[in-house]
Amino acid sequence: MKITSLLFFTFLALWVGISCTNKPKEQKIFPGEIWNDSKGVPINAHGGGILYHAGKYYWFGEYKKGKTWRVGYLSNWECYRCEAGGVSCYSSENLFNWKFEGIALKPNGSDPANDLHISKVLERPKVIYNEQTKKFVMWFHVDSEDYSYARAGVAVSDNPQGPYTFHESVRPNNQMSRDMTLFKDDNGKAYHIFSSENNAVMHISLLTDDYLRPSGIEKRIFIGKSREAPAMFKHNGKYFLITSACSGWAPNAAMVATADTVLGEWKERYNPCKGPKSDSTFIAQSTYVLPVEGKTDQYIFMADRWNKTNLEDSRYIWLPLLFKNDSIAINWKDSWDLN
Ligand code: GAL
Repeated sequence: MKITSLLFFTFLALWVGISCTNKPKEQKIFPGEIWNDSKGVPINAHGGGILYHAGKYYWFGEYKKGKTWRVGYLSNWECYRCEAGGVSCYSSENLFNWKFEGIALKPNGSDPANDLHISKVLERPKVIYNEQTKKFVMWFHVDSEDYSYARAGVAVSDNPQGPYTFHESVRPNNQMSRDMTLFKDDNGKAYHIFSSENNAVMHISLLTDDYLRPSGIEKRIFIGKSREAPAMFKHNGKYFLITSACSGWAPNAAMVATADTVLGEWKERYNPCKGPKSDSTFIAQSTYVLPVEGKTDQYIFMADRWNKTNLEDSRYIWLPLLFKNDSIAINWKDSWDLN
């Protein structure tokens, strides 16, 4: 072979090699299948939420480990539970490979009166970053095993992955607080959205500027409608709130409401899920909607497919959320590619 042909083929081989390695690898999400972390252990972050900070995503969730049992003395509803194992944290740069960062908020194993004791309930943790105080602030649902305590817990850290220090638990504005989420607006104002008044009414409570307490300014919505599992997001200047009905661990149909301002009038709209099993949110319950960083129209709907008799084995349903004018739709996919 002539030297020129040899050079040509060497360059060709190098070019093919480089372009193959540059090609983004398929990063497929399989909703409802076991999802392993970077060490091959199933991700344990239920009722979760995601924080994006300095180039990384942090997934926080309920660490549900070990046996599930039914609370025997509660006969009017199926109170299945497992030990409150604190809040787990996983980090990722691509939303696909997740590294276990450990238990960001540790449970208490010794004092049954402590809000974080393993005999209590710790659900739906969410974390937001406060630019003014430079603190990461976590809110979560704290309850007694019969769910009569109905409070919101607050914890704080200097680092996204924790450790978080427990601050206090509150009944916001003297109201019950169960299923909840946080929403931080572009202007830095943050809101605690929670099922209240025996789950009959949802409250949207503006937090103080340090995000540590309710400011006292709030709005009651879905009055008498018994909605829970709130997930709020903003798209094109409009606010969206996806919620579930109230049926314990059993799935039901989701509903989306929209508003022009967070504390304004919320219009109840429709079930955003489409197609088979849309009346049970694809056998799951909403927990969070994640706007993908740097992509205007890419949002991920996150839900929990609860396994009430083995809560640790509850699965994650992540699906792309589609926008059409000011409407949204969520379609089932057996698998989909994050690219
Ligand atoms: C659901 C709620 C879950 C959990 C469960 C307990 O309605 O969304 O977070 O509290 O009830 O039965």
